[in-house]
Amino acid sequence: MRQKIVAGNWKMNNTLDEGLKLTSEIVNMVSDEVNTDVKVILAPPFVYLTQVKGLIKDADKISLSAQNCNDNESGAYTGEVAASMLASIGTEYVILGHSERREYFEETNEQLAKKIDLALKNNLKPIFCCGESLEVRENGLFKEFVSNQIEESLFHLGEDELKKVVIAYEPIWAIGTGKTASTEQAQEMHASIRELLAERYGAEIAEEISILYGGSCKPGNAPELFACKDVDGGLIGGASLKSRDFVDIIKSF
Ligand code: 13P
Repeated sequence: MRQKIVAGNWKMNNTLDEGLKLTSEIVNMVSDEVNTDVKVILAPPFVYLTQVKGLIKDADKISLSAQNCNDNESGAYTGEVAASMLASIGTEYVILGHSERREYFEETNEQLAKKIDLALKNNLKPIFCCGESLEVRENGLFKEFVSNQIEESLFHLGEDELKKVVIAYEPIWAIGTGKTASTEQAQEMHASIRELLAERYGAEIAEEISILYGGSCKPGNAPELFACKDVDGGLIGGASLKSRDFVDIIKSF
């Protein structure tokens, strides 16, 4: 059985007080209302990781994620954060390759392969993001585009390493736009990703990897997206900043 996951990516939002209030609300609501076997992940900005960790430490369904790490082990990289630092404060997951990082910080597939290795070396589970722009969607080569992202950043991994990776398919044209992929579009891409994994690692391993959908996922559309055979949950941006919406998404399974 694949792990069902709903992860909230706060991006660069919330002051400390707002973030802790949001976390406490989510902890309480998840404890009162969620009785399914789902992993909830909170990805606040680096500066709040330790404090958010403090609030979720007794919530067995909730884990902590960072939104990025550097592709070097340590050293003179002012302003950057290493995978080993994240691990040392009890972070469990790290989002890597988000389209905003690829676009605004020019992260490449090759650089992401290095980040993936460092995350795994430090026992962090990567949430690896992939997804195409509107231009690529419209030219019809979106499956090839996403396959290439996955092959170049993940396919050097051995089976045991790959099993620790969560994949998030986030079509860029659906992020923060209010435009969601249809269930057909989401299922088609998720199935294609699973098939790609099966070709490289075998069907059994491909069946174990959680593939999340991200892109304007809301309480209103989460039930039908999560009902798709190959959609194992969501990576949520905007709606993860409101406790009610986020928990309603979690309850969509
Ligand atoms: P939205 O849910 O705001 O579209 O963001 C999706 C996303 O980028 C999550 O990482």
